[in-house]
Amino acid sequence: MIDLLRDFKRDYWCGEISDSNIGEEISLLGWVDTVRDHGGVIFINLRDREGTVQVVFDPSKTDQQVYEKAKRIRSEYVVGITGKVSRRPTGTENPKMKAGNIEIVADKLLILNTSEPLPFQIEDDININEETRLKYRYLDLRREKMKKNIIMRHQVYQAVREFLVGNGFIEVETPMLTKSTPEGARDFLVPARLEKGKFYALPQSPQLFKQTLMMAGLDRYFQIVKCFRDEDLRADRQPEFTQIDYEMSFVSQEEVMALSEALMRHIFKSVVGIDIQIPFRRMSYEEAMNRYGTDKPDLRYGLELVDITDIALDVEFKVFNEVVKSGGIVKGINIKGGGKFSRKEIDELTEYVKKFGAKGMAWIKLESGEVSSPIWKFFTPEARERLLSRMEAQDGDLLVFIADSKDITHRVLGFLRKHLAEKLNLIPEGRWEFLWVVDFPLFEWGEEEKRLVAVHHPFTSPKDEDIVRLDDAIENPKIALEFKSKAYDMVLNGEEIGGGSIRIHIKQIQEKIFKLLSISEEEAKEKFGFLLEALSYGAPPHGGLAFGLDRIMALLTGSESIRDVIAFPKTQKGICPFTGAPDFVSKKQLDEVGIAVVEE
Ligand code: AMO
Ligand code: AMP
Repeated sequence: MIDLLRDFKRDYWCGEISDSNIGEEISLLGWVDTVRDHGGVIFINLRDREGTVQVVFDPSKTDQQVYEKAKRIRSEYVVGITGKVSRRPTGTENPKMKAGNIEIVADKLLILNTSEPLPFQIEDDININEETRLKYRYLDLRREKMKKNIIMRHQVYQAVREFLVGNGFIEVETPMLTKSTPEGARDFLVPARLEKGKFYALPQSPQLFKQTLMMAGLDRYFQIVKCFRDEDLRADRQPEFTQIDYEMSFVSQEEVMALSEALMRHIFKSVVGIDIQIPFRRMSYEEAMNRYGTDKPDLRYGLELVDITDIALDVEFKVFNEVVKSGGIVKGINIKGGGKFSRKEIDELTEYVKKFGAKGMAWIKLESGEVSSPIWKFFTPEARERLLSRMEAQDGDLLVFIADSKDITHRVLGFLRKHLAEKLNLIPEGRWEFLWVVDFPLFEWGEEEKRLVAVHHPFTSPKDEDIVRLDDAIENPKIALEFKSKAYDMVLNGEEIGGGSIRIHIKQIQEKIFKLLSISEEEAKEKFGFLLEALSYGAPPHGGLAFGLDRIMALLTGSESIRDVIAFPKTQKGICPFTGAPDFVSKKQLDEVGIAVVEE
């Protein structure tokens, strides 16, 4: 290999060159973004990490040998060029390019490598399937937009470190090979060669380790850390994702929340120059569910849920009556301007809600002074009046209703609300609606498990007024469903971007919570004995939070999916098309860990 770069020294990034360099003789390195041969004069756009600049090979000015070499250049060749920065001739400027009024008149050229024709062009608005993009991720990442995402992510890491270190936090790494802990998802398992038959679990989060670091006296911990959850994947979910994770000793819920707001403000200010207002709005879990049908409401638009259960009881419509009599609810949304929806569009909405478990969707359309509706006939004049007034209905509106159990009604209308906001273009650009959701229930009823399950995780402290009722709940588990926790979620534009809680630091309370979760004493000892033991040696009060870094990045960069802000993400099926992981392994590797694969 000849070291072509021995006598070549890069002076600038391509993206750095500007008017102030005019007249300078400079050297650049990069990739050939585009080549155009204009009847003799060859133009290339040279691209590096920081941007692109135009380079010209003019047969009347360039050395003949250099010019001949330039003719061989193709897209994505790796080259070094030396030349003079010049103003472009008048009329040939490119206003779309940052350095659009200058060019480098080349007099030297190094071809460092060639490239095969590409599977897709290095352009921002290419339309190719994601699998291909991920297979050739190194090409995909050469695209301006993707490169910017990755660089902005790097800036967020720096902003996080700057802020947290400045506030007395210490960065500590926690193990990736650990014991299965209950964050609610399925664990990824790693067979242990030295202890055949046993498995490590990859951490769903560093939850227990960060609590232990508080017991170790570190006082304030943070980590930018990979977490692993074997879940069904979606646009906002990856099997391995990154948390900005922290924990603090001797703090109240208010202090953790205030610090988290300040961190978020610092990220927005230092990375994208946006001033966000703190403190953020707050809403109880109950209010969020009632008004928006979700615990992560998007407050950038209205379309609030309206409860008409009481009115529905007075209406001769069997569906409504029966639902209410059996303990369900009836709620609606007033779609302002929806009066112009065609019958087909209404049917489409009905199909949409059925996907989320609705049995149907009742509707009332008010258009040009007329009412059309399959259910209007069941309403008495008084009920009609009450309904229209409750829904704040006007001519031109479409009112839609769901009658079902509370859970289903909320879920369905929560999704419908989002769908309508998108369909009707109600989501304003450039708005950042932060919200804290607080006062979560401590437990919910796990239908599958037939027992109480923790809404956040089992280490979350109940509210003080409920701590004193724990013994009663052990006698009568029903009342535990009324307990609230010291947990808090941060929501941004309808996405849950972070969550945390004040933890239990008293061993006896932790034991009672395990009991309520139907975790037997033996099981508690076997699974969490190390935690219970640590709690018995002077554990300080503590609490913390973890942000989903990928989700924050997706919002900051305006990406549809968190896959666009992760250098090497997995597909929806959990596959890495670049490496081909997951893959089969050899018999020898399996034998070493004592595993036999059962053929399906
Ligand atoms: P939680 O489970 O709420 O809390 O996770 C914290 C945040 O991580 C993000 N997140 C995800 N992002 C991408 N893909 C996933 N599969 C995924 N799962 C979660 C979300 C979420 O808000 N140990 C606690 C935190 C604590 O109590 O301090 C925990 O992990 O944005
Ligand atoms: P039907 O009496 O079956 O013709 O239904 C009348 C209207 O009620 C239709 O628009 C159905 O989609 C709607 N509907 C049926 N079940 C429900 C329900 N559980 N909640 C709301 N609307 C419903």
